[in-house]
Amino acid sequence: MIATRALMLVATLGLIGAAASVPAQTATSKAPAAAKAPSTFGIGRPATAEDIARVNIDIHPDGTGLPAGSATSADGAPIYAAKCASCHGKTGKEGPNDRLVGRVPGDGFPFARDPRIPHTIGSYWPYATTVFDYIRRAMPPTEPGSLRDTDVYALTAYLLFLNDLIPADAAIDATSLPKVKMPSRDRFVPDPRGGPTPATPKGSRGGGAGR
Ligand code: HEC
Repeated sequence: MIATRALMLVATLGLIGAAASVPAQTATSKAPAAAKAPSTFGIGRPATAEDIARVNIDIHPDGTGLPAGSATSADGAPIYAAKCASCHGKTGKEGPNDRLVGRVPGDGFPFARDPRIPHTIGSYWPYATTVFDYIRRAMPPTEPGSLRDTDVYALTAYLLFLNDLIPADAAIDATSLPKVKMPSRDRFVPDPRGGPTPATPKGSRGGGAGR
């Protein structure tokens, strides 16, 4: 929202600048002023590799993009208690904000029948790698991007452990995280309406999946 507003403001300023620089005879000619828009408004600069790297932080289901680092659920428990439990509950089930922990009996997928069933990491998310991606980019909401990569691995391990998806002592890192099979892994299908086909790694069905 804020970014969109800023962009609109820049666009508006650019147009004002362009109108002011149109020579007098052009302004009185019949050609619409918009046709004389310059190829560049002379604002901004090309993004550097560093600019792009800072925002290019998405993690793919096959683990592409995962940084170095490794941690277990025991490393994550104290971080969770300090930085997450106030909003997500002591065990990830109590809220007041989104419930993160819990499985559906038999790992069914009954959300269409009963939308009140909580969508948790264990009951709904198809990819374990998204847990890392989401926490790193968005949590805690008061300080997104503030967690170190090892802390994100630790929190990811802890939440996967609380969802009974990995053993307590499992080390979670760039190699092991993509191998964690989520119960809802095959509940998502590619979007039948088509569209751009993302490059999918071998063995991954990719495309159209939710988180
Ligand atoms: C100030 C309250 C607050 C704190 C602290 C907080 N969260 Fe959240 N969290 C939220 C809210 C609100 C959402 C829902 C955001 C949305 O849907 O846009 C959320 C969403 C999430 C989700 C996605 C849930 C889903 O299924 O969509 C995860 C995972 C998560 N938080 C993990 C964490 C972790 C890990 C921490 C600690 C580092 C943390 N959160 C700290 C409020 C908080």
